[in-house]
Amino acid sequence: MSTGKEISDMVSLFRKELVLCGVKEGETVAVLTELNSYTEYASAFMAAAKDLGAHTYNVNVMSTSMSMDAKFGNFGANALTGNQPAIDALKQADLMIDTALLLFSPEQREIQEAGTRILLVVEPIDVLSRMFPTQELRDRVEAGERRLEKAKHLRFTNQAGTDVSYELGAYPVLSEYGYTDTPGRWDHWPGGFLATSGKDDGVNGKVVMAQGDIVYPFKSYVRDPIEFTVRSGRVVDVKGGLDARLVSDYMASFKDPKAYAVSHIGWGLNHKAVWTGHATGVGGIGMDGRAFYGNVLFSTGPNTELGGTNNTACHMDLPMRDCTLYLDDELIVKEGDMVPKDMRAPAN
Ligand SMILES: [Fe+2]
Repeated sequence: MSTGKEISDMVSLFRKELVLCGVKEGETVAVLTELNSYTEYASAFMAAAKDLGAHTYNVNVMSTSMSMDAKFGNFGANALTGNQPAIDALKQADLMIDTALLLFSPEQREIQEAGTRILLVVEPIDVLSRMFPTQELRDRVEAGERRLEKAKHLRFTNQAGTDVSYELGAYPVLSEYGYTDTPGRWDHWPGGFLATSGKDDGVNGKVVMAQGDIVYPFKSYVRDPIEFTVRSGRVVDVKGGLDARLVSDYMASFKDPKAYAVSHIGWGLNHKAVWTGHATGVGGIGMDGRAFYGNVLFSTGPNTELGGTNNTACHMDLPMRDCTLYLDDELIVKEGDMVPKDMRAPAN
């Protein structure tokens, strides 16, 4: 239970976020929660929305009884599955705050298609505050988005032996800069990364995760390199030591051939993200690793968020440091540092 001061700080932080999201007098802000989760966030968002002159309500549904970490690795049924009255209520809002993690779901898509903008908020308050988004972050994410939208080919390498190529152009680009003021657009606070997918059969090569890279949903740091062989968009082999065994067993546990597809690819741009967050306990649910400035985020599993048909429940996000990434012939990331001026963080 938070103190009065903590609650008033939360309301003022959430109010700043709603201002970035363009919430105006007369708009409607809905908060989606599951049973007794994120109740303080719901109250604070509603207080902040009311203060801005918006109408506000909380759609509280039965819980899926999954932890947030489990949800991040398993995009199957969610709290809104089959609950059309709740979906219809959320479609009435201009902005929906999602604390139930609808990501990759048809329910989320239906709400977006009604023109509702959606903001996912599931990180702890200290992470939300430390990585608070800015227009400056948005500008750098959009600079990357413009390049990724035009690119036909992506290749990334690292010293551990990665050399993998993606044929692009089949899927849109997903940008995350931490807020959303555009009708029907989804974002995630805190943000700071870009993603797209290669053509379904257009990813080939080898991805070797090095020591210290991160495996989500485990939130663990790789101890021995993990070598993924990718052919025609599918992982056909996973080699290495204990970490490779854990990844391999996890993927196999879904008993789903669709789990082996390569999913999104992109890079992180948030210079306030901390790589060691999960080792030191400040990493929250995982945006520190995913949005880390200069990472390359390789992933496996579903591509439905980007309009694809691979709807497996098994999803792994695998951020890697010190990689080098090219879009067509342009060098974007060089050994873990952003190269184009308009994507470099202000301190660099
Ligand atoms: Fe992902």
